[in-house]
Amino acid sequence: MCGIVAYLGKKVAQPILIEGLKRLEYRGYDSAGIGLMASGAIRVKKSSGRISALEAMLDAPCSNETIGIGHTRWATHGEPNTINAHPHLDYTGRIAVVHNGIIENYATIKKWLQEQGVKFVSETDTEIISNLIGYIYENRAENGSSRLKNQNKFEWAVQQALHELVGTYGLAIMCSDYPEMLIGAKKGSPLILGVGENEFVLASDAAAIVEHTTQAIYLADNEMVTVTPEGFRTKTIDNIVISKELKQIEFSLEAIDLNGYEHYMLKEIFEQPESLRQCLKGRLDLRNGRIVMGGLSNLTRELTRTHRIILLGCGTAWHAGLVGEFAIEQLAKIPTETEYASEFRYRNPIIEDHTVVVAISQSGETADTLASIELAKDRGATVLGIVNVVGSTIARVTDAGVYLRVGPEIGVASTKAFTAQVAVLMMLGIELARRRHLSGDDAKYYIEELAAIPDKISQIFEQNDHIRRIAAENSDNENWLFLGRGFNYPVALEGALKLKEISYIHAEGLPAAEMKHGPIALITNRMPAVFIATQCSQYDKIIGNIEEVRARGGKTIVVATEGDENIRRYADHLITVPDAPEPLQPLLTVVPLQLLAYHAAVHRGHDVDKPRNLAKSVTVE
Ligand code: M6R
Repeated sequence: MCGIVAYLGKKVAQPILIEGLKRLEYRGYDSAGIGLMASGAIRVKKSSGRISALEAMLDAPCSNETIGIGHTRWATHGEPNTINAHPHLDYTGRIAVVHNGIIENYATIKKWLQEQGVKFVSETDTEIISNLIGYIYENRAENGSSRLKNQNKFEWAVQQALHELVGTYGLAIMCSDYPEMLIGAKKGSPLILGVGENEFVLASDAAAIVEHTTQAIYLADNEMVTVTPEGFRTKTIDNIVISKELKQIEFSLEAIDLNGYEHYMLKEIFEQPESLRQCLKGRLDLRNGRIVMGGLSNLTRELTRTHRIILLGCGTAWHAGLVGEFAIEQLAKIPTETEYASEFRYRNPIIEDHTVVVAISQSGETADTLASIELAKDRGATVLGIVNVVGSTIARVTDAGVYLRVGPEIGVASTKAFTAQVAVLMMLGIELARRRHLSGDDAKYYIEELAAIPDKISQIFEQNDHIRRIAAENSDNENWLFLGRGFNYPVALEGALKLKEISYIHAEGLPAAEMKHGPIALITNRMPAVFIATQCSQYDKIIGNIEEVRARGGKTIVVATEGDENIRRYADHLITVPDAPEPLQPLLTVVPLQLLAYHAAVHRGHDVDKPRNLAKSVTVE
């Protein structure tokens, strides 16, 4: 959560910071601020609300302000108002900090600082960082400076302060006594330094950097970078000098253009045929009935010998995992469990020899997933990552992995990442099965069907207007049910999550047969029930569940297989998808549910790409 951007160079910093913040706005958007430095003075401007609100209150940029830091916030400590917005100055007005992450021991440090007479103005955890640095700088740096090695007083004070912090941070820090210096530091939250010609951009995400340069260094945990007009130096927070390799940022600005769509979410839904083609490209070996995933080539033995698979994720990634669990068990016959990363990390999970853990994450930065990976590695598991963001923390800390290759996903509601996560898990299932008992012909059948999915998704889009009308007709109902069985049960969960997060309609996703164990009591004609009732092994059973709802006056929206005439009489609204083998059906059935949620949210007048209280990546616990 939260986006940070900082600039040091020859250009005027203010417009660069604002532009960078706009590109990071998906990370948090409840308040924003910038701090600019010139001639030994720091000027801070903050506002509650969106970046546009901050922009509106800014004066014309000052040409001598060529160093600055900026922040877009997703509140954790303290309500989203102007005082709690970043940057936070220390009590001397000398140190300015922007922060992404959470400081868990902030209350203890705050109490101690207050006992020393330090006054606080905000309710944030971040203000203890600026005040602690400020306090150490003011009171201890003279003593400490006798021990300075390859560091100045400002760096020394930052290092001492960082040692006291428990929690996560991506930080950009300025000190007015060092008017040509910027410090960045990272632990648990992403931080990238873009290195251009005579200019540097430090940011949470490459999106804020690529306009200026495509060369960057990725900081690792407990590392810091000091930037001056002469260049940059990287160290650990223990002051050990380290050299970091410059990497090429694989990110194009066109990929984050709206391309005429009203919202990123709609664009990303419609991108799915192409994003899936990219995800499958080069990975389907039809001739031999094999899957080729280069990222896993070093782990052939571990994968072949695995006795058990644990899939980890949160939210949509967890739903994709559940589809993957069903597919891997059905195809490869390997016991598989899908775990919420947020629960797994605090349990005492049993990880036996030959367990392979697969972490699924679009952003590659989700805090709970990261913590679970550390736990699994600590217990000796081989850990794979299924990640979208190249170079993200999860991509770097896992033993091996597979990228989704769907390009940047900006809409907070995850869509094209879900279908790619399912596709990668399906490929993993086919390959694991192939190494055990699946015949070449059976593997070829699944591979051919997988390759046909992108075109089938395009066919579903022909019903977009029809789905829009269904959404409009039903979007004033405040409670919905989503019901599916087998492979379509996780899709029911995903459909409900999509509707909740962007339309703020209460929705529950359930295995359809569970309805009669309680939730059926909720059925009225004011509660639309969305059934995913495609041709599958449980088709007759789900028809029975639809009947149970209709018998109680419930209204049904049914997603069924094209050409299924029988089902018409059970559906108040019918949406169809092309036929596909059961394990692959989620790749199709989820698409109308994404559209339904999108149109319901638009109909209700919500900002689809920036739903309230949410942010794109959850980098805090
Ligand atoms: O970046 P990740 O895939 O790790 O994110 C996991 C969830 O936070 C994410 O899928 C979330 O549930 C989405 N907003 C759902 O649309």
